[in-house]
Amino acid sequence: MVETNLLKLNFNDKDFSHVRDIRESVFHDELGISKQELFDKNDELCDHFLIFDGQKIVGSVRMLSMEKIVKLERMAILKDFRTKNYGRNCILQLKEYYSKIGFSQIILDSIYSVREFYKKCGFIEEGNVFQRVGIDHIRMTLTF
Ligand SMILES: CC(C)(COP(=O)(O)OP(=O)(O)OC[C@H]1O[C@@H](n2cnc3c(N)ncnc32)[C@H](O)[C@@H]1OP(=O)(O)O)[C@@H](O)C(=O)NCCC(=O)NCCS
Repeated sequence: MVETNLLKLNFNDKDFSHVRDIRESVFHDELGISKQELFDKNDELCDHFLIFDGQKIVGSVRMLSMEKIVKLERMAILKDFRTKNYGRNCILQLKEYYSKIGFSQIILDSIYSVREFYKKCGFIEEGNVFQRVGIDHIRMTLTF
């Protein structure tokens, strides 16, 4: 089992620069999403997490709280570290953390082609496929 550690930070932390680098590499360079779409006003409201393997940064994700529900967004594992369980371990830890502080559900809008990953983390699909930034997405939920 790979070691997976999460470091929680906010938009004003100097380490937020790592989140910028990861989003640019994964969402802009790889997926071709425009740079203007990579950041928005919610970044100032969200909890951000850097994902580590014990030493190196392997990815990042942000969580937007809405009453008893928290929305997982901008999940990204750097290419060299994929399919090694960092993504799943991260989601398991987020589930434990948000459950302990009183949340009962994680929702997310999955890129449609990635939905099997979230299913393997326990999420179920909800509703219809929709487009965002020119890419098919679907709402998924995990209730605990
Ligand atoms: C999607 C992503 C976060 C998955 O992270 P990861 O660390 O590679 O995933 P894991 O290694 O924890 O995979 C857990 C399981 O999901 C599967 N899986 C991972 N990515 C998958 C994908 N894109 N499609 C289908 N299954 C996938 C793995 O094979 C593994 O299955 P197993 O239990 O049968 O072994 C990562 O591939 C990524 O950052 N992709 C680019 C950005 C992106 O699409 N983000 C999601 C935005 S909604």
